[in-house]
Amino acid sequence: MNELQALEAQGLTELAACGDAAALRAWNTQYFGDSGKMKAAMGQIGKLPKDQKAAFGAEANRVKAALTAAYETALAAKNEEELQRGLTTNPYDVTLPGRPRARGRLHPATQILRQIYAIFADLGFQIYRTREVETDELNFELLNMPAHHPARDMWDTFFTTTPGVVLRTHTSPGQIHVMREAAGKPIRVILPGMCYRNEAISTRSEIQFYQVEGLVIGEGVTMADLKGTITAFARRMFGPERQVRIRSSYFPFTEPSIEVDIDWPKDDPNRDRLTKGTGWLEILGAGMVHPNVLRAGGYDPEKVTGFAFGMGPQRMLMLKHAIDDIRLFWQNDLRFLKQF
Ligand code: PHE
Repeated sequence: MNELQALEAQGLTELAACGDAAALRAWNTQYFGDSGKMKAAMGQIGKLPKDQKAAFGAEANRVKAALTAAYETALAAKNEEELQRGLTTNPYDVTLPGRPRARGRLHPATQILRQIYAIFADLGFQIYRTREVETDELNFELLNMPAHHPARDMWDTFFTTTPGVVLRTHTSPGQIHVMREAAGKPIRVILPGMCYRNEAISTRSEIQFYQVEGLVIGEGVTMADLKGTITAFARRMFGPERQVRIRSSYFPFTEPSIEVDIDWPKDDPNRDRLTKGTGWLEILGAGMVHPNVLRAGGYDPEKVTGFAFGMGPQRMLMLKHAIDDIRLFWQNDLRFLKQF
């Protein structure tokens, strides 16, 4: 019993002598650790005669509780003291401006794509996504280009190690996918996505780039609808004053085929350079869907007609911002990306 009281007195004295929280924690280990003084004192109970055990146990518990409570009070007081000291010697200046969080942004190509989606959404178009790895059949054959057709030369192709499988060179094979899924119903979609061409990389050509394809099919769809759609798009994208010019062209999967130019603003200092002095700038290729392509998609060219177009959104962004090197898009140079 007396040993317990002596332990209590000693513990309290030593506790009072602790200078900081670390010393307090060391004290705690010394008294309450696995090989601490308290445990050793409790161990005595085994050697006592039976009739003293209960009283010893009760006293031991009281001492234990008293020391624990004293420790917790002392520790809380020390922590508070240290906090106060920290606050006064190292005051926290609540008037300092916060640290700005670095925020990312959308890639310029994503931004222009979303602008295009918004314009076509207003014109009633749905977005349809199709695969980037295509069969030769869909990328070429069903688009009216059998093997060895010379028009295939317009698309330098990446072939895969699987025969008959290519990286799509344009979004046009998506036309077949949409038609087959729509199964005879009218269609009004755009097909955005990445395309791949086996080209020498230069300021004007990349081996991967986005395209946005458009496809409209229904009864009585005409070239006038194509022109109206393109004009509405060009004016939303490049300004309400834009004029649209149509030139005849050739694509195997459209007949007739056209290329569409817009007039470039007279007040743009880059006008002459961009338009090579003509004032006109090509923005896309288009045409009326070829009967063979309609048939490949399961549509009857005697009953329905359609138009299709294909544009390069990155090229549009380059026009809008006078960007002169298409390679900048995928170089991940923050000095370029942060400007958008
Ligand atoms: N697919 C053509 C290209 O890549 C563009 C195009 C699409 C032309 C649809 C006509 C109709 O160059």
